[in-house]
Amino acid sequence: MRNILVVANWKMNPRTLKEAKEIARASDDKRVVVCPPFIFLEEVKRTVKKGKVGAQNCFWERGGKKSSFTGEVSPGMLKDIGCKYVIVGHSERRTVLKEEAKVIKMKVKAVLAEKMTPILCVGEKKEKESAPEEIKKQLKEALQGVPLKNVIIAYEPVFAIGTGKACPVDLAEKRKLFIKSFLAKIRKKGEDIPVLYGGSVDGKNASSYVKAGFDGLLVGGASTKPGEFERILKKV
Ligand code: PGA
Repeated sequence: MRNILVVANWKMNPRTLKEAKEIARASDDKRVVVCPPFIFLEEVKRTVKKGKVGAQNCFWERGGKKSSFTGEVSPGMLKDIGCKYVIVGHSERRTVLKEEAKVIKMKVKAVLAEKMTPILCVGEKKEKESAPEEIKKQLKEALQGVPLKNVIIAYEPVFAIGTGKACPVDLAEKRKLFIKSFLAKIRKKGEDIPVLYGGSVDGKNASSYVKAGFDGLLVGGASTKPGEFERILKKV
């Protein structure tokens, strides 16, 4: 049986620690990686017993004596509190925070250097013919020359994120095959690198992406709605 991974990307939610603990308790499942905002990480780590915990971002420097990076959190700090995964290159960070390709690559490397797993998000902005080229560019920019022992890719077409309009399953499947074949070219057994689907996943559509061969899901909005998230878990 395949190992299915469901990444819960809470984004900048919820507002209070009390709610964070409630959502974490309801999400606790061995297939789940809960990715809360930094401020809730430690408490969520204490709450989640069966699942794992990840961060939504990190800085690219590992820290040390000269760590003058106001407001940043290093991969080492995340590892120290028990994080196993870090989401890197989410489209909201690429667009809103203006994160560039070279920053994303540095973050991937920094996460790997701490022996955690980067979950690299890639995806086209619009549904169009040149989309595979856009995806290939993002993969190349982030991964070329990086020792890829431990990485997960999340295919997240931007038009499907937070819109309630998930990517048609046949299109997502095509993109997944494209990503796997690219990975096979840049790394031995690259096709074994897990590829997740993300973008308006809910209880109704979750199973169709897993049936189409995705190794799991990256869930945003629905991951902070316990009832909906449980439905997703039941379906995969
Ligand atoms: P969404 O977000 O499920 O709300 O569309 C997906 C994501 O965080 O990438």
